[in-house]
Amino acid sequence: MEVGGIQALRAWRKKQTGTVSLVPTMGALHSGHQALMGRARDSGDSVVTSIFVNPLQFGADEDFMKYPRPFEADLEVCEAADVDFVFAPALGEMYPAAPEVTVSSGRMGSVFEGAARPGHFDGVLTVVAKLFTLTAPTSAVFGLKDIQQFCLVRRMIEDLNFDIELIGLPVVRDEDGLAMSSRNEYLAPGDRVAALAIPRALDAAARAADGGMPADVEAAARQVLDVAVEREDLDLGYIGIVDAATFQPCAQNFSGHALLLVSATVGGTHLIDNLPLEFHR
Ligand code: PAF
Repeated sequence: MEVGGIQALRAWRKKQTGTVSLVPTMGALHSGHQALMGRARDSGDSVVTSIFVNPLQFGADEDFMKYPRPFEADLEVCEAADVDFVFAPALGEMYPAAPEVTVSSGRMGSVFEGAARPGHFDGVLTVVAKLFTLTAPTSAVFGLKDIQQFCLVRRMIEDLNFDIELIGLPVVRDEDGLAMSSRNEYLAPGDRVAALAIPRALDAAARAADGGMPADVEAAARQVLDVAVEREDLDLGYIGIVDAATFQPCAQNFSGHALLLVSATVGGTHLIDNLPLEFHR
């Protein structure tokens, strides 16, 4: 396995004759990332994983400085996952100056997670576009936990004509049901108990989805979360059912692919989760 910045990546990329699959990450790798790398291994002759904590996608009051950076442990995870190249550029290499030209995530990037974190998705898409240009992958693998990010990357690939196959991997969950996230390590044991209301709310929604209307499904999830807001240290950020293609709220007669989106803050840690839904009329 090779590890390097832009120059080393370019030299390595020139030598690749087959397909290349990219797994973009910000490090602090866990089994969810391992699953992404495994999927990349299945879909490309070579696998490149990027590890870069992208300042552009953090708000001024967010955790950029304290975001976990266990680099040596991350390299071991990549090695075990049979990654061929770990692209770990320095901050000054990716952004020698504050960028003047960036990617706009548009209307779809300004609702839900985008409304809670203004500018977040512009920062994500800007760095993902740079990673796509630098690694020139045949395919890229993203987790579906960050579903709005995934849908925006899919839209960017279409709108900006990147010739890349986008692969989404279902949410990987711990045994207790909590979606895996690098931020879970901020959770104290009591916070974790409170956070489990999120997967419970998704379960309630999944049960209500059997024949239910969007409003019934949302109400079932909201009921579980309201109890946690009252009894535990959980603040509900947003909950909503959207058309998966546009992220606009679903009307009651909606038919097609939808998503239930949930965010909550537990003990100061921002958590997100989602449930894919199908409505047929
Ligand atoms: O999902 C992430 O880890 C990040 O948003 C990404 C895609 C690596 C861009 O920094």
